[in-house]
Amino acid sequence: MSLSRRIEGVGTSIILAMLEKEATLREQGIEIISLTAGEPDFPTPRHVVAAARVAMDKGDTRYPPLTGTAALKQAIIGKFISDYGLEFGLRSIIVSTGSKQAIYNAFMATLDQGDEVVIPKPYWTSYPDMVRVAAGVPIFVETHVSQRFQLDADLLNHAISPRTKWILLNSPGNPTGAIYNEETLRGVAEVLRRHQHVRILCDDIYEHIAFEQPVRNILQVAPDLGDRCLIVNGVSKAYAMTGWRLGYAAGPPELIQAMAVIQSQSTSGASTLSQAAAVAALTGPQEDRIAACEAYRRRRDLVASHLLRIHGLDFTPPDGAFYVLVDCREALPEIGLRKDEDPAFVARLFEAGVAVIPGTAFGAPGFIRLSFATADAQIERGLVRLATVVAGRSDSL
Ligand SMILES: Cc1ncc(COP(=O)(O)O)c(C=O)c1O
Repeated sequence: MSLSRRIEGVGTSIILAMLEKEATLREQGIEIISLTAGEPDFPTPRHVVAAARVAMDKGDTRYPPLTGTAALKQAIIGKFISDYGLEFGLRSIIVSTGSKQAIYNAFMATLDQGDEVVIPKPYWTSYPDMVRVAAGVPIFVETHVSQRFQLDADLLNHAISPRTKWILLNSPGNPTGAIYNEETLRGVAEVLRRHQHVRILCDDIYEHIAFEQPVRNILQVAPDLGDRCLIVNGVSKAYAMTGWRLGYAAGPPELIQAMAVIQSQSTSGASTLSQAAAVAALTGPQEDRIAACEAYRRRRDLVASHLLRIHGLDFTPPDGAFYVLVDCREALPEIGLRKDEDPAFVARLFEAGVAVIPGTAFGAPGFIRLSFATADAQIERGLVRLATVVAGRSDSL
């Protein structure tokens, strides 16, 4: 079968392959502790589910307005004012089928063959492939565990070329959990002022999972970049609504309009029921969201206390999201693997009954990503198994 050039070189997701393997083992009755989840383990808040039910009962089941219902757009505008102090008009907002579709719309609407997108590394595994699907070229900028994965302005500056269309900022970040501090954001803003042709895509999907202080968006420190910035967010992570597929973006009206064209020829917009639910999520009681964040903070500390006791592993305790990226490069040679053989290490962990994601999936060979969006007891048992494998004693399990 002949396939399009567009999907040549676009990888199948390592993460999905891991999840399938996990499911197969489970079907065979083999117990596996999963530290892979990229989604909250809490239920969607009851008042949110109730709002969708009301919408369904009153017949809110027709095609949605292309860029989102007026009620949801107003709720999103209110959210940006209260969280960031940023004001957007209705024409600056688009509602999409998950934040992923908002990012996809943006790339499809702006990238021509060979255009470049600068992506800090380690990165969320989908970014490079989304760029490639849109015929663009991902350009990576290294960040380091020793610098808490902050983005270096000089390295960023060097990565920008006349073909650069976007730089991507993801804070709190997947897989690092790093939050860009004000100094980093000011440095990035300074670089962008030197390159007027570059736009900024802020993926703020983990905004509300922040442990030490509220997340700052680059527009709060550099409002002059407003006509070049697209902020993407959604309800998946903050409100435990991954299955509702509801995200949104705020940016310059011309860009939003171009994204709407892509959306009009693909999904026609997000489900009306999910939109009704998202209004309740954004404008209703926030206790569930705050309690979930508190639980993640506690689990982050639990993970950190275990990891600190495992010789040969290095990590930066994440400031947000629900992942920790663990540097295993010192430990791997001690168990007969090369420093960058994280997939083989993950396979051994699998055999020992614990599933994690290899760092290679995020452009970080020699690392693994652990998710703590799971119960304390699972985390503890998983980390005991990890310690056993690192100590070279997996045969005794
Ligand atoms: C960094 C990042 N951005 C976006 C998404 C997609 O979220 P959504 O469910 O809103 O499409 C994810 C999901 O894992 C993510 O980790």
